[in-house]
Parts: sequence; C-alpha cells; structure tokens
Amino acid sequence: MNKMTVRDIEVSGKRVLARVDFNVPLDEKTREIIDDSRIQATLPTIKYLIERGARIILMSHLGRPKGKAVDDLRLGVVARRLSQILGQSVGIAMDCIGPEVEKSIASLKNGDILLLENLRFHSDEENGDDSFARALAGLGDIFVNDAIGTSHRAHASIVGVTRYLPAVAGFLMEKEIRNLGNILETPAHPFAALLGGAKISDKVSMLENIIGKVDVVLIGGGMAATFLKAKSYEVGLSLIEAGRLDTAAGLMEEATGNGVRLLLPVDVVVAEESGVEGKIDILPVEKIPRDKKIVDIGPQTIANFSEELRKCKTVLWSGPVGIFEVPQFARGTQEMAKLLASLDAATILGGGSTAEIAVEMGLSDKMTFVSTGGGASLEFLGSGTLPGVSALMDRKS
Ligand code: 3PG
Ligand code: MG
Repeated sequence: MNKMTVRDIEVSGKRVLARVDFNVPLDEKTREIIDDSRIQATLPTIKYLIERGARIILMSHLGRPKGKAVDDLRLGVVARRLSQILGQSVGIAMDCIGPEVEKSIASLKNGDILLLENLRFHSDEENGDDSFARALAGLGDIFVNDAIGTSHRAHASIVGVTRYLPAVAGFLMEKEIRNLGNILETPAHPFAALLGGAKISDKVSMLENIIGKVDVVLIGGGMAATFLKAKSYEVGLSLIEAGRLDTAAGLMEEATGNGVRLLLPVDVVVAEESGVEGKIDILPVEKIPRDKKIVDIGPQTIANFSEELRKCKTVLWSGPVGIFEVPQFARGTQEMAKLLASLDAATILGGGSTAEIAVEMGLSDKMTFVSTGGGASLEFLGSGTLPGVSALMDRKS
C-alpha cells in the first residue's frame, strides 16, 4: 500500500481523530451487539494509540438515522463493549461536534479514549459538508482512517476531514488494502471467483475488473437466475434483474473472450417460497417449473464447483450461493464454506454477508483473509481503490 500509516507519524500526546466503522449489528429487541467483529478488528490500531500515549477520539456511524438523533442508534452500547474488551474506561460524547465535545476532549489525558456520538445524527456527515468536516477536523491534530467498511462513501468524516488534517491509514485499513490489493495484483493461479448473493448489480464492476485476472468464475445465489435467463433457461418465479440480462450476457462473452471458464449451476433446489421452509425439489436447470423459485444450488453443482475449487491456489468468495438465512436452503453455501476452509489455497472472503457466514459457521480462522469491509470491499475490488483511501497521504518513496 502506497499510503502512510499510523506507524509513519508521531502520535504521542497528540489528539488523534480516528474514523472507525462501529456499525455493528444490534439485536432488534434488546439493542445488544450481536457480532462485535468490527470492534475487534480495530483493536490493533486502538491499542497502538493507547501504548503510544495518544489522546484518542473515535468517531463512527451506526445504522442510517438520516440526519436526526435516534435513541436506538446511540453509540453508548459500543463504548461499553469497547471498554469491557480493553479493560479501560471509554467515554461517550453527547454529540460529535460542539463546545461540550470540545470540553470533553480538552480533559483527555494521554492514552484516554473518547467515542463521539453517531456522526449520522447530522445530515452534513453524509452530504460531505465542508464546514461540518472542518468542525470534526478541529477536534484533532491527526486523522487516522481505520473504517474500511465506510471508505466507499465520500462522507465528511471519511474524505472531508483529510482536507484539514494529516491523514494516515490505521492497521485494519492497511491489512484490508494489502489483502484485497494482492488479489488484484499478484494472485497465485489457478484463481477462482465464487460469486453469489441476490443481485448482479452489486458485483458488476468487481466482475468486470477481475474477469481478466481469474481463470474460472463460479456463479450461484440469486444472481445465477439472471445468468440462466440470459441463456434462455426458464427460471420460474426466481427474481431476475431484467435490466441486467445484457450485462450477464456481456460478462459471459467477455469471459469466453478472455479464456475464462464461467460455470453456472447445472442443478438447483427449487421451492414455492423463498422465505420459509417447505417442500423442495432438486432439478436440473433445464427443468425449472414456472411456479417455483431457485433457492440454492443442487448437489451436482456443489460437486462441479468443488472440483474446480480444489484445483485453485487463490479463491475469492463473495456472496452466499443459496438463501442462507433459511436452514433448508443453506446447504450449498455451507458446503462451499467448508470446502474453502479445507483448501490449501489463499482464500479471501469479501462483500455483504460472506464474512458473517464464515463467522456464524466458526470457519473464519480457517480462511486466509475475511474482509470486514462489506460492500466497500467489493467496490475496492471493482476499482482498485476507494475515496477514503485515495484521500490519505501518499508514502514518500
Ligand atoms: C456498512 O455496514 O455497510 C458500512 O458501515 C457502511 O454503512 P452504509 O452502507 O449505511 O453506508
Ligand atoms: Mg452498506
């Protein structure tokens, strides 16, 4: 990575304003944290700053409050968890800017931590408003971006503040960019992309960017229906993206042109409803009935995909190959996850729900790298950078 990191700058005694992505999933009823991976992932940066005696000001968003203070989306619950993990008190500010916040910051001692209240309680955050960015920047001496998961957004706390403060990457950001960057720059071959998830739209730019670098693309999940439809198969009631049929056809052509093998399911699990368990059938893709939906890949497809993956030295996996939330439709995804975990290959997981699946199945430790970046990791794989990364200071060569 050609960007400066927190290692390259003196932080002792400085007010370090660090953007983190503490947008953690909360239980709908209890509002307790369901998965604290995103907090855990920033610990190397936070501990480093504590050890060096920085005055640490953390800022994050939580959910999408749309410019208003929403009690259910206050960051107190995150401050408490972080404090438990670190065994040190973590203050929570009343807001993210303003005189009260400035007072709290003025009383910080070296090694102390203050978490600012949800940035998105101000609409200026998402608008990237310049005076809001300047107000945030005024709280610190140095800016550290460790929020890989939000760095595809040109928000005030991600891009705006870099206009006013020396801006460097945190350790999570560095690790993410190094691992995702390796996939684009120096993947070991054979290199496969295993793609699933609901929509092609989420993955088009990524697919276009990697199609010249991979040897094989395996497509499952909801998006497989649009590819099958583009090849004139009947896909029944499966949701297809009508506006993306040409995209799918174009991608298949491009794959052929690049000597890349693109495999679609040869058999699928179909059901009447995609949201609940019920009667299922396993059918070849030529026989999908008009009144059913595809809910998972079938056993022959699992076998075909597995055979391909076993030959690979690099596998990028993004998106479940079936409706993972419904146990009856989760088999394909579970089999793929288990297989990846067993491979002697670089296995990189990115995008949406893929990291969560690996965590839920207890397999994240068996993968080479599980990105915490969600949608941002896909955008990075699509363009090789992110607005929040480009905005950081370049390393002097
Ligand atoms: C995420 O979880 O996707 C990131 O925290 C960014 O949030 P957003 O999608 O609401 O911008
Ligand atoms: Mg998102």
